[in-house]
Amino acid sequence: MNKKLRKIINKLKNKGKLSVREYEYLVKNRTEEAAKELKNHAFKIKTAVYGDKIFIRGLIEISNICKNDCYYCGIRHSNKNCGRYRLTAEDILACAEEGYALGFRTFVLQGGEDPYYTDSVLTDIIRKIKEKYPDCAVTLSLGERTYESYKALKAAGADRYLLRHETADKRHYKKLHPKEMTLKNRIACLKNLKKLGFQVGCGFMVGSPKQTERQIAKDLKFIEKFCPDMCGIGPFVPHKDTPFKDFPAGTAELTCYLLSIVRIICPKVLLPATTALGTIDTNGRQEGILSGANVVMPNLSPISVRKKYMLYDNKISTDEEAAENLKMLAERLDKINQKIAIDRGDVKGR
Ligand code: 5AD
Repeated sequence: MNKKLRKIINKLKNKGKLSVREYEYLVKNRTEEAAKELKNHAFKIKTAVYGDKIFIRGLIEISNICKNDCYYCGIRHSNKNCGRYRLTAEDILACAEEGYALGFRTFVLQGGEDPYYTDSVLTDIIRKIKEKYPDCAVTLSLGERTYESYKALKAAGADRYLLRHETADKRHYKKLHPKEMTLKNRIACLKNLKKLGFQVGCGFMVGSPKQTERQIAKDLKFIEKFCPDMCGIGPFVPHKDTPFKDFPAGTAELTCYLLSIVRIICPKVLLPATTALGTIDTNGRQEGILSGANVVMPNLSPISVRKKYMLYDNKISTDEEAAENLKMLAERLDKINQKIAIDRGDVKGR
């Protein structure tokens, strides 16, 4: 390994932070040897903080109706080929009931920015889940809302909120989103969520169209400074009905490399091995975990809607990523000496 790379890796391991230029160098000049070293180090940190436990989250995809038109996303407003659906409070509670019996103690309500889910609709759902399952955490992943709205959701009992920043570079953000959407508002939302006391998750796609190593470096710097409780990092995967249909997918190799770096920057972070990673590589999620990830989010949506929540082509939903096949997941994890935890799985030290 060259001297400069050696020095940067040592600094990352000792200090848990680098300059943007150093992150850029680390990404641009990565070697197999560097990746192995960071992977081993990240896995050691994950094990020191969370042991051999992997936290599971029951992912309930509540609606694929979205007012936004993100260029990468299969459920974007303009996609006329997307069969739309939304779940009612009853549907969602039925998912939670099934999930609880399976051992899930966190439910993630994720959906497009669907105006049907007003504060009163959502607070009603959150209260019902928390009343019935007081030992469970509720995570929301419902996009950008006002401070007042987030406040109402928190007051109703929501514990966590996922809102990927998508890219920390303003110009890149503009290339991925139409003009109504701004990085500024995204970041303002993340700060509001933090201020309100949510466990907050940010994150980005790896290999999204026109992404440069410099921009990835900025993502890492953002994560280092924002210090999220959760961080979703998965490869970009093209969707056939989007403007980005002809762009190549990101790689599992770079995704895992970045998972390791993020684990080293934020030792306690809740870091999922994402479905997108499992989609581009059958071994993706195991590799993600060995690279430092400690969360898996099996699909708990009603089977009838799963094929409709297609954020990208070929999104997997019927094998070990399906909540009802938790046993399969446990067996997969057993092969890498990891155990599923029946636990809320909160971030350490909070
Ligand atoms: N490929 C990979 N990830 C995607 N997402 C949306 N579309 C895609 C895609 N084509 C991710 C976004 C979003 C999350 C819910 O899914 O980062 O925040």
